[in-house]
Amino acid sequence: MSTNALYTDLSGYYDLMCADIDYQAQSNSVRRLHQLFGSAGKDHLDLACGTGPHVRHFIDFGYHSRGLDINQPMLDMAQLRCPEAQFSLQDMCAFQVAEPLDLITCFLYSIHYSGAIDRLKACIASVHHALRDNGVFCFNAVDKNQIDNNSFARHTVEHDGSQFAFSSGWNYCGHGDKQSLRLSIEKITQGVKQSWEDEHPMVAVDFIELQALLQPYFEVHVFEHDYEKIVPWNGLSGNGLFVCVKN
Ligand SMILES: C[S@@+](CC[C@H](N)C(=O)[O-])C[C@H]1O[C@@H](n2cnc3c(N)ncnc32)[C@H](O)[C@@H]1O
Repeated sequence: MSTNALYTDLSGYYDLMCADIDYQAQSNSVRRLHQLFGSAGKDHLDLACGTGPHVRHFIDFGYHSRGLDINQPMLDMAQLRCPEAQFSLQDMCAFQVAEPLDLITCFLYSIHYSGAIDRLKACIASVHHALRDNGVFCFNAVDKNQIDNNSFARHTVEHDGSQFAFSSGWNYCGHGDKQSLRLSIEKITQGVKQSWEDEHPMVAVDFIELQALLQPYFEVHVFEHDYEKIVPWNGLSGNGLFVCVKN
């Protein structure tokens, strides 16, 4: 089992794996939250931007949007999708920006890739440093205490004469600050099957701890994980959308 082949050797399959994600709805929702909680400024950075789908939408909304990721193969695809944008190869836990920003996003639970609580703290501090006053940090997260190790998302897609099946699920042992994301890819071409398994180490945190880490830097709002409507977090759901306004 590899750790992160999906973002390196198998990065060509990433967009297929995400084919059923509504990136437009996610981007629209976060733009609306930025309008409600932030300023009118349009300088945007997407952390762990992957192949750049959100950067594409934010540019199309009129933002000056750029992306950052730790894997160059992902950035190469992002650059093809968004030729006008700048992408930088950096760790989201220790990044630098040339100018202050109005909005920083981190989608698809990628903030958990910080991997450990001290690195998550460093990520939050880097984000705070990179934002202008009243700048907004928006990301989604999963509460470690709500993880069901038996729950997997699975979907299939046909592409270029092959059938693909992708599945992903969280795994948390029930204590400590480490969880993992388990991913599998199956590809069948003319009856010949290939399969790959990835296990990505991630930081595990509950939403009370996460709010406590954010509150020294930000006014923190937590919403239900719903990109269609803005509903305050009910205190129980395991998935949430965090909107953090720089103090
Ligand atoms: C699940 S993908 C999400 C990509 C994109 N945000 C999306 O919504 O499709 C996670 C991304 O995080 C990146 N990543 C992992 N660790 C990182 C780190 N420490 N700093 C920056 N990016 C990282 C990976 O290379 C990958 O592109």
